[in-house]
Amino acid sequence: MSYDFTRWAQGELDLLASQHLTRTLEPLQSAQGPTVRVGGQSLINFSSNDYLGLAASPLLIHAAQQALDAHGLGSGASRLVAGDSALHHALEASVARFLGSEAALLFNSGYAANVGLVSALWGKTDILFSDAHNHASLIDGCRLSRARTLVYPHNDVAALEALLSAHPQGRRAVLTDAVFSMNGDTARLHELSALCERHGAALVVDEAHATGVFGPTGAGLCEAQGVSADLRMGTLGKSLGGFGAYVACDAAVRSLLIHRARSLVFSTALPAAWCAAGVTAIARVQQDTALRERLWSNIKIFTTGLRELGFEAVAHSPIFSVVLGAPERAMAASAFLRERGVWAKPIRPPTVPPGTSRLRMTLRADHSPAHLQQALTALADWQKAERR
Ligand SMILES: Cc1ncc(COP(=O)(O)O)c(C=O)c1O
Repeated sequence: MSYDFTRWAQGELDLLASQHLTRTLEPLQSAQGPTVRVGGQSLINFSSNDYLGLAASPLLIHAAQQALDAHGLGSGASRLVAGDSALHHALEASVARFLGSEAALLFNSGYAANVGLVSALWGKTDILFSDAHNHASLIDGCRLSRARTLVYPHNDVAALEALLSAHPQGRRAVLTDAVFSMNGDTARLHELSALCERHGAALVVDEAHATGVFGPTGAGLCEAQGVSADLRMGTLGKSLGGFGAYVACDAAVRSLLIHRARSLVFSTALPAAWCAAGVTAIARVQQDTALRERLWSNIKIFTTGLRELGFEAVAHSPIFSVVLGAPERAMAASAFLRERGVWAKPIRPPTVPPGTSRLRMTLRADHSPAHLQQALTALADWQKAERR
């Protein structure tokens, strides 16, 4: 009897459905913006990571368009073969200036960067210390590296110190998100950096949700807290409005990554047009401080509104989580908000641990006061409906 692959897949899907964990793809019928068109409906967008509203910026699109005309659509090969261009180097120079690092190296996405850099720089005889709330890409990087990985309780510096003291041997690194992507809280980088210094461990910071949001020039949480890390990873696909990612490091580490990071060596390069958009986005973020001010003003207004409704909200970052527990409860809340014109996708396992399904709501610099109010009113109505 032949193996019925489709039947196996259907069985897996049925199991997911019975757990309220079915996922579907929903094509947007508009560009990213404070409102988007989805399923024929215009909805206020509380679901994207385009915090500064740059994903549809005419300035970035124009820069990409010019590069498309000059360099064509695809990069054609890995950077080590025939996919490199002057625009890749220009973007790396601009990232290094932005972050004050000696060098920078581009990757095709934040996921590719984390998986590539962790597995390239640490191996079987090393120890990695990873925050329990770190992003999946850092977790997968640890797995691929085959280094011994010790997961410390979320943001628990004392527990990390105990682990570092108990494991003094070998090359060691502490890995942390700057802004934790599901709860929106921030890492205690000052303390982590001091700890790494004392224990001779490297510090790796994932600034995916912090770039453009924190720091006087928008360089991220390290800039905001005056902390230097051995490696800072950031994405071009969130606040910077485009696509791709980078690692800021020193020149020797950059060279080593070019030799060893498999997600860089064995993958077609980021197209030049996205590099051009990245250069323009970084210049915009550095110059237009009003963008960041508007975002933070919205964060404060929304925090106050949530607290008035009785939610435990803290103005840590543009990410707010309303934890609801069961996946079906998060789905019902999301559908309720959607009927009232508010798009906040439910987040369920495995993206978050079982029992912590939630609405994850992200703010933007270009949300208007009316947008924020509509979301708060929808949440208040949902609370009333739940009490009935
Ligand atoms: C903390 C964190 N790191 C890395 C990534 C991956 O970045 P990218 O979407 O560019 O692959 C994400 C994406 O959501 C993230 O939240």
